[in-house]
Amino acid sequence: MGQDTGYDPTVARHLIRYGMGLSPHVIVKARGATLWDQHGREILDFTSGQMCATIGHNHPRIVAAMHKACEGALHLYSGFVGPAVLGLAERLASMLPPQLSKSIFLSTGGEANEAAARMARVAAGRYEIVGLNGGWHGVTGGMAGLTFAGRQHVDYGPRKPGTMSIPPPNCFRCPIRHCRDACDSTCLDVGFDMVDAQSSGSLAAFIAEPVQSSGGVIVPPEGYLPKLKAKCQERGMLLILDEAQTAFGRMGSNFAFEQFGVVPDILTVSKTLGGGVAIGAAITSEAIEQECHDKGFVHVTSHVSDPLPAEVALAVLDVLEEEKLNARANEMGLRLRHGLETLQARHELIGDVRGHGLLQGVELVKDRETREPDAERGRAITEACMARGLSMNIVSVGGMAAVWRIAPPLTVTPAEIDRGLEILDDAIRSVS
Ligand SMILES: Cc1ncc(COP(=O)(O)O)c(C=O)c1O
Repeated sequence: MGQDTGYDPTVARHLIRYGMGLSPHVIVKARGATLWDQHGREILDFTSGQMCATIGHNHPRIVAAMHKACEGALHLYSGFVGPAVLGLAERLASMLPPQLSKSIFLSTGGEANEAAARMARVAAGRYEIVGLNGGWHGVTGGMAGLTFAGRQHVDYGPRKPGTMSIPPPNCFRCPIRHCRDACDSTCLDVGFDMVDAQSSGSLAAFIAEPVQSSGGVIVPPEGYLPKLKAKCQERGMLLILDEAQTAFGRMGSNFAFEQFGVVPDILTVSKTLGGGVAIGAAITSEAIEQECHDKGFVHVTSHVSDPLPAEVALAVLDVLEEEKLNARANEMGLRLRHGLETLQARHELIGDVRGHGLLQGVELVKDRETREPDAERGRAITEACMARGLSMNIVSVGGMAAVWRIAPPLTVTPAEIDRGLEILDDAIRSVS
């Protein structure tokens, strides 16, 4: 996934290739929304690294938090917890509804989702978990079976038994060829009919991103997530929301679920909690935690409850509040959105612009009527952007053939947004 700017064998002679083209730019420094390569060339980062660096690369508060951890403790025996972990668990509980009050801290998004799925299975005493087509939840064993974007389960043997998917609420490209531009969530009814037909009577949970990101920035229509939660409740399933990319400001609120009128049974957060440092968390209710504990739940990893990333996460949450980044994401998101819509009016190949706050998707088409995806020009323009100093991410997996995911750090300046839009405009002209 992501930008394929060509593979330079001298860059990666001793690296295992992991599925995305490695850029020949060797990045030696990153600050805010800017990267510098080995030749001192500036690159504007419109993807916040791998969608993580929401408070900007190397924010001084993150650096200070890392120093603080160095003065205290970096890593501990998993049965010990330090003040940062206790403080972070308390801080998250204070930001969330009362039913989300218990956290476990791990290292990555995939791990956080594994913990959530394992808790859901233990608590429910069932094993089936359903996801959305196009959803991305990680490459770890269990999550690869629930990631229906890309080729996660092609060539790797059988998926974990009891994993299923339903069609996503893609208003621009209806997966069940039922509606156009206005999803009435018939896809959800059809999807659950399929689930009921296939289930062995052991439905434990449903996992979804509130807004699918890797799947092409799919924003559900109003009422979709409450309807999904009701369908889960009817079947005794828990709802897991994966907010790896959408929590902590990117959508203009602390959590995306707040905007969609639904509270999950288990919430996972990761990328945007660490601002570029690896941390993941699963958060649930006292009742589910108690049920799991009583049934002997085990989820020990080498870095569970590590002090260093918790210290960094606390700094990220401080900066989110002090720099009023939720409001800033809304403000900069509007500026970006307006600029993208201007480009859409100018360039026939932009079929759709969608998203919330500073997570915007731009879908490229060969023809606005047929909506045939234009992956070829998407790739060429992405490369033309990079040649002009703008790093963009193009999703071209599964049914999603050509969507830019634009998600600069929330600290991005108006001038940087405008520069990015100018480069994009110029790059589109050069290819069209
Ligand atoms: C929504 C979502 N969940 C989970 C993951 C997996 O996170 P990680 O790569 O940290 O395991 C990703 C990664 O892109 C993601 O976008």
